Amino acid sequence: MIDFHCHILPGLDDGPRSWDEALEMARIGQSDGISEIVCTPHIKKGYATPALREISETAEELQSRARESGISVKFHPAAEVAIERNLPDLIERGEITTIGGSARYLLIEFPWEGIPSYTETVISELVSMGITPVIAHMERYHQVITDPGVAGKMIDLGALVQVNAGSIMGMFGTQIQETSHILLTHYMAHVIGSDAHSSGKRCPQMKEARDVIEGMLGEEAAVRLTELNASEILAGRRLEPWASARYEGPRAPAWRRGIAGRIAFYITRQLRGRR
Ligand SMILES: [Fe+2]
Repeated sequence: MIDFHCHILPGLDDGPRSWDEALEMARIGQSDGISEIVCTPHIKKGYATPALREISETAEELQSRARESGISVKFHPAAEVAIERNLPDLIERGEITTIGGSARYLLIEFPWEGIPSYTETVISELVSMGITPVIAHMERYHQVITDPGVAGKMIDLGALVQVNAGSIMGMFGTQIQETSHILLTHYMAHVIGSDAHSSGKRCPQMKEARDVIEGMLGEEAAVRLTELNASEILAGRRLEPWASARYEGPRAPAWRRGIAGRIAFYITRQLRGRR
């Protein structure tokens, strides 16, 4: 399997605090059946802003330390980039790390407070530049939980969707688990990642989630979501079209979609202390 979203590079963000912990994460991943890890430190203004070169050098060092420790996992430099209105300009100036350095795909995340109003514009601009945005843990955003059709609209614009293995297993609560299952069963998910941050509770594991996907959609889909699609993205190739992504099911009641629901979601998140 390929872990498409993992904070495993030490010292760059809120991931592991030492090389030892990073190597322990790699060991955990390897014994779970993960053969490649996409290293995705946060790039978020005022929080963590590792430079492109810092990310690739740290990934290279992790690769050689892993080799010396008898770990065969392969690491790819990338980043989890917080969306901002001028993201296309930053990419044009070469300031942002794309996935595997291919300049064809970019992992982006939204603020927890809500999906910004300029999101569709940024997605369209990136797509017209030949860059496919992959939306990190789409199932965890309030607007998507209350209306999974929001994900379909972004896919229509040319975005892809990454889902967290932990969400599928209920690690972030029932609402997020249900949303992740809706995305999967409506073909609105393309790649799976652990979004691991440590060798503790949020470590790089995907096998259980892969088994759930296999039970839901069959083996071919499970392989596609946990391996094939990620491999195509890393090679900078276009993905084969998935079955048509549509959700026309019920939306949450109006209050939950409005400001009151957003505040309730935000408070629950803070109480759970999730990153
Ligand atoms: Fe992340």
